[in-house]
Amino acid sequence: MTSNRRTFAIISHPDAGKTTLTEKLLLQGGAIHLAGEVKARGQARRARSDWMKIEQQRGISVTSSVMTFEKDYDGETITFNLLDTPGHEDFSEDTYRTLTAVDSAIMVIDAAKGIEPQTRKLFEVCRLRSVPIITFVNKVDREGRPVFELLDEIADMLALDVSPQMYPVGMGGEFKGILDFASGEVVVPEGPSKEYRGKRVAGFDLPDEVEENAELAQIGYPEFDLEAYRNGDLTPVYFGSALKNFGVTELIDAIAKYAPPPRPQPAGEEQISPDRDEVTGFIFKVQANMDPNHRDRIAFMRQVSGTFKRGMKLTPSGLGKPIAVHSPILFFAQDREIADTAEAGDIIGIPNHGTLRVGDTLSEKNDVRFTGLPNFAPEILRRIVLKDPTKTKQLRKALDDLSEEGVIQVFYPEIGAQWIIGVVGQLQLDVLVSRLEAEYKVGANLEASPFATARWIKGDAAAVKKFEDFNRANLAKDRDGDIVFMAKSPWDVNYQAEQHPELTFSATKER
Ligand code: G4P
Repeated sequence: MTSNRRTFAIISHPDAGKTTLTEKLLLQGGAIHLAGEVKARGQARRARSDWMKIEQQRGISVTSSVMTFEKDYDGETITFNLLDTPGHEDFSEDTYRTLTAVDSAIMVIDAAKGIEPQTRKLFEVCRLRSVPIITFVNKVDREGRPVFELLDEIADMLALDVSPQMYPVGMGGEFKGILDFASGEVVVPEGPSKEYRGKRVAGFDLPDEVEENAELAQIGYPEFDLEAYRNGDLTPVYFGSALKNFGVTELIDAIAKYAPPPRPQPAGEEQISPDRDEVTGFIFKVQANMDPNHRDRIAFMRQVSGTFKRGMKLTPSGLGKPIAVHSPILFFAQDREIADTAEAGDIIGIPNHGTLRVGDTLSEKNDVRFTGLPNFAPEILRRIVLKDPTKTKQLRKALDDLSEEGVIQVFYPEIGAQWIIGVVGQLQLDVLVSRLEAEYKVGANLEASPFATARWIKGDAAAVKKFEDFNRANLAKDRDGDIVFMAKSPWDVNYQAEQHPELTFSATKER
């Protein structure tokens, strides 16, 4: 069975145009339900807690959300599930984890800037799981860098084959349209700016230079190869302008045509196929305390297999006993708030009171454990110091909760009582302090820590024990009790790794 679901994310550097492109994609699909506006049954939008105010003040989105839209192709309806990843340069594990829930990604690049640091980071996360990527070179309505320079940069910096599918006829003021290699037609903008509809023109009189370059682009780069794309080895490249709604149709059509339907997901040695009859899925994100007065949470489940029906009983791996999912939030539910059914590839929001944790598997028969939801080594480490030392218990509870959600990581050193907070982006620290105060009534300060990064240690039990005995001052336990080497510098990591070839010092940890 081939599924009509396309579950994907957009990866990009801030300002490349992700938000603008998202809007235009949603417009293509018509009716939409935005997960950022998750509503409880029959209630108006709930009070937002402080950390959501941070989002508003700073004009950025801390949390990921889900947007679903549909488009018809010759009588077949394709359902697109777009998972939003914050494009802000401070991003959290949330972002990384969201990428574990998609089957493909669009990489948006600013034509004037090329590959930027955040694009690259997110790309590397996609590569970990061989997520196929379609590239969209945005802002061709502005003066950009030469096309070949951009193509070569993508190929070189990301070590990826690039296969241009189009060639812009001019950029900036000279922009006339985009030559589509497959049809030989030029798509020219028609209608008022910002609402362009691409009109296809056959036999367009191309300037000589464009004609030559377009030919070079077709013979000088690999041809599109579906298998290479789906393996994550090759990216087809499209050009357009999100702002002017140009090239967006071609992009979404490419997703419909080439992007993979729901992929099997690893569960230990097994691969769970989307065709499996029983419902299975995993939680990739938990959004807690949407209402500060109630400790409610929404857990986001990526459905891996089966047909979900409202009221169905699913067993979370962390709990061992089934829960009935009576009021799932399905982002596809356009005019209904409560979903009745969902398929493999869909995302379901499950309201709960803290029973569901990131990384949990849900299944009908409690016979599957998905693997491969990683923790990432923090890039910023801070000591957390209580303003009121009598609140240790509350702090521990809060830190455990928030690390469960993936807001932070927490490390409990083997020696001493100073707990260390680890994050991958500065913003997470602001969110932490604000949420500790607002939701847990715990005042805390963050101070410099002697450590620069952390690595999970794995190896033969005896070897780990020996290392532990000699390095206790630099070891900590994470929330799950696993041993972590706290390094003073990247050099320190390399040194220890060289000294201890019998151990692995891992920058990610699979749950
Ligand atoms: P992001 O989510 O990736 O951070 O980017 P966003 O869509 O917010 O776009 C960043 C800026 O780039 C915005 O301009 C947006 O209008 C502009 N932009 C996006 N796509 C295109 C495009 O195809 N062509 C051109 N010329 N500009 C584009 P801004 O000045 O920051 O905001 P605004 O005042 O225009 O809203």
